[in-house]
Amino acid sequence: MGKLFNIKSKISNYEVIKTSTTIEKLLLSNKYSLCLVDDFYKSQIKMVDYSKIIFIKANENSKQLAKILPILTKIANKKLSRSDKMLVVGGGVLQDIGTLVASIYRRGINWDYAPTTVLAMVDSCIGGKSSINLGKYKNQIGNYWPPKKILLNSKFAETQKKIDLLSGLSEGYKITYVSSKRDFNKFIENCESFYKTLNFKHLQSLLEISLYSKKRIIESDEFDDGKRLFLNFGHSFGHSIESITKYSISHGFAVAIGCIMEIIFAENYYKIKMDSYTKRLINSLLFLTYKMTKHQKKLLKKISVRQLFEILSYDKKIYNGLLKLPVASTAGRFTLKKIDFKKDKAKKNFFVSYQELSNLIR
Ligand SMILES: NC(=O)c1ccc[n+]([C@@H]2O[C@H](COP(=O)([O-])OP(=O)(O)OC[C@H]3O[C@@H](n4cnc5c(N)ncnc54)[C@H](O)[C@@H]3O)[C@@H](O)[C@H]2O)c1
Repeated sequence: MGKLFNIKSKISNYEVIKTSTTIEKLLLSNKYSLCLVDDFYKSQIKMVDYSKIIFIKANENSKQLAKILPILTKIANKKLSRSDKMLVVGGGVLQDIGTLVASIYRRGINWDYAPTTVLAMVDSCIGGKSSINLGKYKNQIGNYWPPKKILLNSKFAETQKKIDLLSGLSEGYKITYVSSKRDFNKFIENCESFYKTLNFKHLQSLLEISLYSKKRIIESDEFDDGKRLFLNFGHSFGHSIESITKYSISHGFAVAIGCIMEIIFAENYYKIKMDSYTKRLINSLLFLTYKMTKHQKKLLKKISVRQLFEILSYDKKIYNGLLKLPVASTAGRFTLKKIDFKKDKAKKNFFVSYQELSNLIR
């Protein structure tokens, strides 16, 4: 137990700590004047000081901008000062909300974060981003304000539904594939051990491999000006899938589907041949998508590709009408392509690629 690594940041350096503590102990700590906690823990915790806890339901509706104001009002009513520290406990939704709130309340307060979902542990807990929804368009508002400490304990995910736990791993596949062949191989090998045993010690190794890969990328490009943009791989198509299914398809599965579709699109549009790494990525992500519920698979089959295309046109990665799409030739080798979706050829390829993807999901 103890410090895993430091992350250099232009805002303020921060630390990832491996801990064996429990959520209750964290909430009892007098280091924190206020805690934003996933509503899931309401029924799980006892003997804590409820007066310093704000429970928040972890869903996309809670990430609407209008829902942030009442949280800020509650914080102000508790008279939090700039010398107070806040703790956030939960998955990516709590993190997105916590980051924004911590960054704007009194122009910024210190906070620690205990991620409780695999998705947050494997990816979002580092990088310092907040992403807030605007109506039907996802993650349109945000900024950067990293926590001081990330308290990592893979056991926090033991209570997660197995389907959520597995879908969260998609971001780890993505990060390590973006990073390098070496990291990707290591991640895949450890995933195989984890799937066989479902032992949380293997999960801890997976988290560390993925976070080390992401650390290198975000330290070299904290504010999405270069290499970090490659981490958007799978997200343009993925966010459209989440939006069109009204978030019935979770972020993890949507990213898995988005990565597969972006690879198929690149193969069709740029004639990029898939090598053994890319094929392994597709197979691993398909394995995850097979775990989706029947309802989710049905929704996917029913999607109108024309509406999906319309939603894609609101993606925040569109500049001057051109979508910046990370395209890979293999693991660790990405370039950023600008795609003009007003052109018939791009549109047609989008439609064809969606059909091919749809045929792959069983
Ligand atoms: N800011 C970033 O860098 C970033 C990166 C990736 C994703 N995200 C965002 O993260 C969100 C998805 O987050 P997520 O997948 O971590 O889940 P989540 O926060 O949406 O939670 C999913 C469900 O799991 C429950 N839950 C959380 N922890 C649990 C636990 N330990 N045991 C049992 N149930 C638990 C929640 O109550 C909720 O019902 C999306 O909104 C996505 O856009 C943000």
